Amino acid sequence: MTAAAPTTTGLTTSGLTTTGLTTSGLTTSGLTTSGLTTSGLDVVRLRRLAAAITRVLGIKLPDAKLTMLHGRLQRRLNELGMRSLGDYEQRLRDPAHAEAERIELLDLATTNKTDFFREPVHFQYLTQRALPALSTRGDRWVCRVWCAGCSTGQEVYTLAMVLGDYARTHPGFNYEIVATDVSTRALREAAAATYPAELVEPVPPALRQRYLMRGKSARGGMVRVVPELRAKVKFGRLNFMASHYPLGELDIVFFRNVMIYFERATQKQVLERQCRVLRPGGYLFIGHTESVAGLDIPLTPETSSILRKAT
Ligand SMILES: C[S@@+](CC[C@H](N)C(=O)[O-])C[C@H]1O[C@@H](n2cnc3c(N)ncnc32)[C@H](O)[C@@H]1O
Repeated sequence: MTAAAPTTTGLTTSGLTTTGLTTSGLTTSGLTTSGLTTSGLDVVRLRRLAAAITRVLGIKLPDAKLTMLHGRLQRRLNELGMRSLGDYEQRLRDPAHAEAERIELLDLATTNKTDFFREPVHFQYLTQRALPALSTRGDRWVCRVWCAGCSTGQEVYTLAMVLGDYARTHPGFNYEIVATDVSTRALREAAAATYPAELVEPVPPALRQRYLMRGKSARGGMVRVVPELRAKVKFGRLNFMASHYPLGELDIVFFRNVMIYFERATQKQVLERQCRVLRPGGYLFIGHTESVAGLDIPLTPETSSILRKAT
């Protein structure tokens, strides 16, 4: 899926005053110290970039988030040796750089926080309730799992370890994982499957021993996921704002800690599209701080963060 181009059309400078900036915490002095010029135009540019990001990714970026966006953009400007957001917008329009730079912009707009065994009760539910319930699907059934918004891979490999272990103790059980994100940088890290050893501390020792390899010499502080688990995962770039998700039918979707960044209307649209690829009886896992309450979607709650499509 290719992201639509952030354009600058449709947003004018009219009606934007510095009053709005002060109340949102973005004061002129804050802008000066971080290297941008003090003219109100930079705030207009920040808002214009924020609006473009929201249009393309669905991520909410109200004024209260502009300081954060500004900090991330500033790092990119430094990398490019640029002094102003005006130059940066020019780069986004320049045919020689536009496509690659838009990808960079979307990458920097995403928040990729994740962990191994994050919200661990979901993985217990998966093996104790969901997989036994789904296993009535017959001998030739392959359990298809989508890690939707997989970030740098910790959630994907947690799933792979848990499913791999389930397969070990349940002969005949087979699975495959599709992992997607819109951030190319996050996907690159996920595909590399290599992490600093301290990040895998939440992984239970038995799984660590079975599925993670310790680096040697120069890579002594690193671990890598074993090849047989890596082979179970297919990565792809997918924007949830796409009109459909070409992933085939799925039994389980992990869509955790992503929709929290979206407007309610966008959440509903994304969930509806996910329901279309979820098989009857399939499960959707969302983050503990997220909720589908009040959204009219064809899922029944098993718990507040685990939902099931009618069989
Ligand atoms: C906070 S991380 C969550 C990672 C993981 N699911 C977890 O719970 O640990 C959110 C991820 O959603 C991705 N994301 C945000 N907006 C997206 C969009 N419109 N399409 C696809 N992925 C998106 C981000 O790139 C980021 O990696």
